[in-house]
Amino acid sequence: MSQDHTFCIAPMMQCTDLHDRFLMRLITKKAFLYTEMISSGAIIHNKNYHSLLYNNEIDSPVALQLGGSNPEDLAKCIDIINEYGYDEINLNVGCPSKRVQNGSFGACLMLDPKLITKCLRSMTEASSTPISVKCRIGVDEHDDYDFLKTFVEAVAKANVKIIIVHARKAYLSGLSPRQNRSIPELKYEVVYKLKEDFPDMQIIINGGINDISSAKIHLKYTDGVMMGRMAYDNPIILSEVDSVFYDEPLKTLSKKNILKEYFKFIERSPTKHIPLSQSLRHLYGLNKGCVGAKKFRQEINNLIIKKDLNNSLDNLSRFLN
Ligand SMILES: Cc1cc2nc3c(=O)[nH]c(=O)nc-3n(C[C@H](O)[C@H](O)[C@H](O)COP(=O)(O)O)c2cc1C
Repeated sequence: MSQDHTFCIAPMMQCTDLHDRFLMRLITKKAFLYTEMISSGAIIHNKNYHSLLYNNEIDSPVALQLGGSNPEDLAKCIDIINEYGYDEINLNVGCPSKRVQNGSFGACLMLDPKLITKCLRSMTEASSTPISVKCRIGVDEHDDYDFLKTFVEAVAKANVKIIIVHARKAYLSGLSPRQNRSIPELKYEVVYKLKEDFPDMQIIINGGINDISSAKIHLKYTDGVMMGRMAYDNPIILSEVDSVFYDEPLKTLSKKNILKEYFKFIERSPTKHIPLSQSLRHLYGLNKGCVGAKKFRQEINNLIIKKDLNNSLDNLSRFLN
């Protein structure tokens, strides 16, 4: 059974790692979280894949995002991932980066619907949890609705029923991944039309959704929304998610308590060998837009340099608002 995708937080490389997901979970118990993309090669050829896949202590629902295009490799990965208790495994068909294209996966896979069906069939056969896809609305000059429809039909053929659509096309050359997230025009109506044409599929819309009120509007036309950069840059925005979208009572931890729990997690996490620079940077946005935000960020930088969390809670809390 697939879970409720009403509000999802996007997979983001070097952002939505284990620590960041823990931080998000302190703020919203219900949002559907996604890991950063992990390539099939990183799982198959890395004996230490455990630290990449570890997800204990992060309450459901959490999806793992995979990158790859070799059906056998994807199935091998799923056998390994099955042990880790994720609620969904998502295939990345939206990333336009050169590195990903060199591995022949990401957005360029949208150009090969037969291969997509094969990859997804191989994943569904190996998986005990639902499989989903994250894609764009088009690639390069292939940006008409029929192209997208053919792609979604290829997904449906593999019996995959959850599609997250970033409502921009991707350019495979000429734009950096960052530019590819802002320059191509957002076309939400294309995603709304997909939902009309594929009523049995769960269609989740992504791209430029930066506040709760616009998320509510998209939910009139789709099954779910996915927020990326805004959720990372200003995580406190997520404190309304459970009450607005899931009818839960409004229960918010104070920023000080969020920090306290987060520091405890850093100390006890099995990935505590990771540098503090990596785990503390997720906190930069915690005081975003508030008086003291700059000093708060500076204090985080001091901690990263000192490499020591002792007394840091009180020091940092002074700047929280
Ligand atoms: C730093 C960063 C890393 C990203 N990494 C991934 C990734 O690993 N997999 C993926 O499917 N999308 C990735 N994305 C794209 C986001 O998931 C999302 O589709 C995009 O940012 C648009 O949503 P937004 O406007 O809400 O940010 C990344 C985006 C950013 C900013």
